[in-house]
Amino acid sequence: MFLHGTSRINDANHLEIGGCDVTELKAEYGTPLYIVDEQLVRRRCREYMEAFTASGLGFQVAYASKAFSVMAMCRLADEEGLSLDVVSDGELYTALQAGFPAERIHFHGNNKTPDEIEMAIDAGIGCFVADNLVELHMLQAIALRKEVTVNILLRVTPGVEAHAHHAYASTGQTDSKFGFDIGNGAAQEAVKLASAQSNLQLLGVHSHIGSQIFETEGFELAVERIAEFTRKVKEELGVEFPVVNLGGGFGIRYVEGDTPLQVSEYVAAITGAVKKHFTGISEKLPQIWVEPGRSIVGDAGTTLYTVGTNKEIPGVRKYVAVDGGMTDNPRPALYESKYEALLANRAAEPNEETVSIAGKCCESGDMLIWDVELPKVESGDLLAVACTGAYNYSMASNYNRIRRPAVVFVQNGQSDLVVRRESHQDIIANDIIPARIAKQTVAK
Ligand SMILES: Cc1ncc(COP(=O)(O)O)c(C=O)c1O
Repeated sequence: MFLHGTSRINDANHLEIGGCDVTELKAEYGTPLYIVDEQLVRRRCREYMEAFTASGLGFQVAYASKAFSVMAMCRLADEEGLSLDVVSDGELYTALQAGFPAERIHFHGNNKTPDEIEMAIDAGIGCFVADNLVELHMLQAIALRKEVTVNILLRVTPGVEAHAHHAYASTGQTDSKFGFDIGNGAAQEAVKLASAQSNLQLLGVHSHIGSQIFETEGFELAVERIAEFTRKVKEELGVEFPVVNLGGGFGIRYVEGDTPLQVSEYVAAITGAVKKHFTGISEKLPQIWVEPGRSIVGDAGTTLYTVGTNKEIPGVRKYVAVDGGMTDNPRPALYESKYEALLANRAAEPNEETVSIAGKCCESGDMLIWDVELPKVESGDLLAVACTGAYNYSMASNYNRIRRPAVVFVQNGQSDLVVRRESHQDIIANDIIPARIAKQTVAK
């Protein structure tokens, strides 16, 4: 397993993260356990802040909290000076309860409900990223009733779609559930409508071109397209965009062969493209906002499991089962995502066998890793899976009524519980047996 951040193998041959021996973390918190390398998260936040500061442009780095939304993470993002992107009342509530300054919160999503919009307006959030015409009308109506003006960005699709291992494409985004298409004229119509609303303040546009992106070309092309659009809108409608938000999608290294760029390289490419394509459109260059999620928390997370049973099928493969699986990490089942693992309690031992790591759910598809090289694995060993900081806890479920794991932050030899493990009581906390059924049961 590639060792990220402060991860290292200590003298006892154990994996250590943030100065904490994972065998001791298991003794204190149990498994499965999400371990977050706090120093690495902070380093990633600072890489973004420093790279944008160096560019000389106005900016906001909004942590996309969908990647990992818990109160401690919101506090950390605030401490590091980041803004925050939320997509639901739940993420908004988490941020507000954590004391995150409302004016640095941006609300996303293609189907915000009237209740969510009211809650966000009442909290005084900084900006809505408006996704469609229904939402624009709803925002105007609610803002008018509340006698406030709300800041909005319009989500646009610039005709660029990029993913790791796929070349960026200059078509293909028109057919998206998100945003107003630039190519078919919907975005310009939306600008016309939004800028005519008495209670909406149009700050600019937003685009998000994909995820796990390893090159800069897609971002640069998006900037170019948005600059062309900005110029056209200024000429034809007299509307200017003080803000351009370029979303997230910056890649990280999950496994060998992944080749992400440094944060500074992504930022330099984006800010360079903005200077190149926006110069001369307005007096001032726009502020650039971005929304990294995965690249802030992804490689800082490690999930620790205890090995349980195994099953060897001669000539086929050996399955090794751990005490978690698709409930704490659905990404392999959803996206065929690849991960690396290490036998964390015998970390320096040479690899001896190829095994496949199975979860404990009643699903054949509940596999965490196919064919990983490990030392001879025994029941009771600890298995660490790297790079689970993003879209793991936030996508976790209670399928099979499995309890969601605890999350700890580790740094300087200290571990702090930031989410406690769910209890059996938590599992049934919202269950209700109607009296009618309860009586029948008693009658039998
Ligand atoms: C609008 C928007 N912004 C930001 C992100 C964060 O992306 P990532 O975690 O890849 O940086 C996403 C992810 O889906 C998104 O949809």
